Amino acid sequence: MKLNTLSVRDFKNAENERIAFTDGVNIIYGDNAAGKTNLLEAIFLFATGKSFRGGKDKDFIRFGQDTAYIEIEFEEKSGPQKMGIRLFKNQKKQIFRGGVQVTKLSEYLGLFRAVIFTPDHLNLVKGSPEFRRRFIDIAICQSFPRYVASISEYNRILAQKNAFLKNKIDSDELLEVYNERLAQLASVITQNRYKYICRLEKEAEAFQRDMTDGAEKLTLAYNSQAGEGFESIEEIRKRYAELFRQKSEQEKQKGISLYGPHKDDFLIYINGKNARQFASQGQQRSAVLSLKLAEGELSKKLTGEYPVFLLDDILSELDARRKRYILEKTQEKQVIITGCEKEFFAGLEQIASRNKIYVENGKCFYT
Ligand SMILES: Nc1ncnc2c1ncn2[C@@H]1O[C@H](COP(=O)(O)OP(=O)(O)OP(=O)(O)O)[C@@H](O)[C@H]1O
Ligand SMILES: [Mg+2]
Repeated sequence: MKLNTLSVRDFKNAENERIAFTDGVNIIYGDNAAGKTNLLEAIFLFATGKSFRGGKDKDFIRFGQDTAYIEIEFEEKSGPQKMGIRLFKNQKKQIFRGGVQVTKLSEYLGLFRAVIFTPDHLNLVKGSPEFRRRFIDIAICQSFPRYVASISEYNRILAQKNAFLKNKIDSDELLEVYNERLAQLASVITQNRYKYICRLEKEAEAFQRDMTDGAEKLTLAYNSQAGEGFESIEEIRKRYAELFRQKSEQEKQKGISLYGPHKDDFLIYINGKNARQFASQGQQRSAVLSLKLAEGELSKKLTGEYPVFLLDDILSELDARRKRYILEKTQEKQVIITGCEKEFFAGLEQIASRNKIYVENGKCFYT
C-alpha cells in the first residue's frame, strides 16, 4: 500500500494543501499546534471513517466554513485508487471512491489501510477494556470489512435492549427477541476477536522477543463472559443465549445490559505476569510497540500488503533504543512520522535525509 498524495481543503487549520508522499519514511515536523496531527487525522479517516482523536464530523471543518473536503491518491494491489470525503456541518459526510459516491461503510472500509500509533496507545496496557476492544475492532474491520456489519447491528440492538431495560417495559417476549439476536451477533464478534488475538499474539511475541534479546515473552489472553474455547460459533451462541437467560432478572433490576462482548477484554502478559500490574513503564512501552508492529504485520498476512504506518509524536516518548527499533522495523514500509524538529535531527541521521514537510499554521512546506 502506498499513499501518494493527500489534499485537504478547509480541514481543521489547513486551508488548501496538497502533500506528496514518498516510499519509506516521510517526516512531518513543526511547532506545537502547527497542524501536524490534523494531517494524520485526515489520512486515518480514510481507513476507518472515524477520527483516532474522537470528535464529530463538524469539528473537522475549518472554523468559519461550512464544508471540508479531503482526498487521497494511493496504490494498492488492485491498482491506483482515489478516495474523497466531504464533511458537512449539519449533514452526514459523503464518501467517494474513484469519484463515485459510496453509501455503505463496507464499500470503502479495507480499501485504504493504516496503522496509527500515538502516545495514547500506552492505554492498550494501562487503559480501560474499551480502549482495547476498539483497537481489535478497528484492526479487524480493516482486514475483514464485513465484520463492521456485525458490530453495528450488535450496538444498535444493544441500545434498543438498554432502552427497554431502562424504561422497565414489561415484556419477556421482547427481551427474548433481543437476546436471541444478540447471542447470534455476540458469537460472531467473540469468535472473530478471539481468532484475531491468537494471530496477533504470534506476531507480537516475535517482536517483543527480538526487542529484548529473548528476555521477554509476550502472551495475550482473550477474556470473555462466554467462557473458554471459541472454535465453534454455535457453541458460543448457545453459551451467550444461556448467560442472557440466567441473568435476565439481574439485568432487569439494574436497568442495563451487563453481559455480552461489549464487556470482553484481552489481557497482556510479559513472562506470565499481567503487564498492567507488574510491567515497568519501559516494558509497557515495548509491549505496545510490539502490538502495533504486530498489527501491521498481521494486516500484511491477511491482505497481502503492508498498511501505511502513521506515527504521531511517538519519538519523544521512546528511548533511543526503541526509536531505532521502530525505524528499523518500518524501514521498508511507508511511514509518516510527526514530531517537533529537535526530535528528528537528534541522533536520527538515517532518516534526516527523507521526504520532509514543515508545517506552520496549517500550511505545508517541503524542506
Ligand atoms: N476546526 C478547526 N478549525 C481551525 N483550526 C482548528 C480546528 N480544529 C483544530 N484546529 C487547530 O489545529 C491546531 C492543532 O493542530 P494539531 O493537533 O494538528 O497540532 P500539532 O502540530 O499536532 O501539535 P502538537 O505538536 O502539539 O501535537 C490547534 O491550533 C487548533 O486550534
Ligand atoms: Mg500533534
